[in-house]
Amino acid sequence: MNEHTLSLRLERVAAHVPAGARLADIGSDHGYLPVALLRRGAIVAAVAGEVALTPFRAAERTVADNDLGDQISVRLADGLAAIEAQDGITAISICGMGGETIRDILDNGKARLSGRERLILQPNGGEPPLRQWLMDNDYRILAEELLRENRFDYEIIVAEPATRQPYSAEELYFGPLLLQARSPQLLAKWQRRLRHKQRTLASFAHAQQAVPEDKVQDLAREVRWISELLA
Ligand SMILES: C[S@@+](CC[C@H](N)C(=O)[O-])C[C@H]1O[C@@H](n2cnc3c(N)ncnc32)[C@H](O)[C@@H]1O
Repeated sequence: MNEHTLSLRLERVAAHVPAGARLADIGSDHGYLPVALLRRGAIVAAVAGEVALTPFRAAERTVADNDLGDQISVRLADGLAAIEAQDGITAISICGMGGETIRDILDNGKARLSGRERLILQPNGGEPPLRQWLMDNDYRILAEELLRENRFDYEIIVAEPATRQPYSAEELYFGPLLLQARSPQLLAKWQRRLRHKQRTLASFAHAQQAVPEDKVQDLAREVRWISELLA
């Protein structure tokens, strides 16, 4: 993967960035996503935010190699602190981190949100708490995608501010739109997860030390939901 050829995962993220956006890519690593989008003329400006020095330098290099320093600001910053009001950001991508980390970045950076940006999020696990945050903070999920690359299942969640949208516990768990679509990919993903969760649940029964009851109950509920989905 590089700024010329994105991974399938980042290519699908790119597809949800509105044409002509001013994008903030938080946790940009090499900066491949904003650089690829600018090279294609799909966006007009970007901020590439990085909290760690090595990826920050890598992003600076990608931007310089592509002569895009006038359109992309690379900033060493924690989460949404990379965004300044004068950037006029219209879309934010946060990809390739745990859902809880993405949630914390959004929560800690609330003051940096104008309340109009599209969020394009690609959590590596921890999707339910991220969806919970979106619901609690009055975002509507307008698109969800599931894809598999290199034997990993990835979800992409696209959200925009809207009047409060109540999601059920199952919708928060599976994704409201993924659940509605019930695609073969969704069923295949949860088939794989079900086997693993059933094995874990069975191992709890034989564990040397008693597993806390709430943990057993949570897992048993997940197994029930997945079994119902696949029934
Ligand atoms: C696995 S990489 C993903 C890179 C790219 N977004 C992608 O999806 O391919 C995660 C990046 O997020 C950065 N990161 C983690 N927490 C961050 C935070 N609070 N603020 C900014 N960057 C963060 C890490 O330094 C790392 O470079």
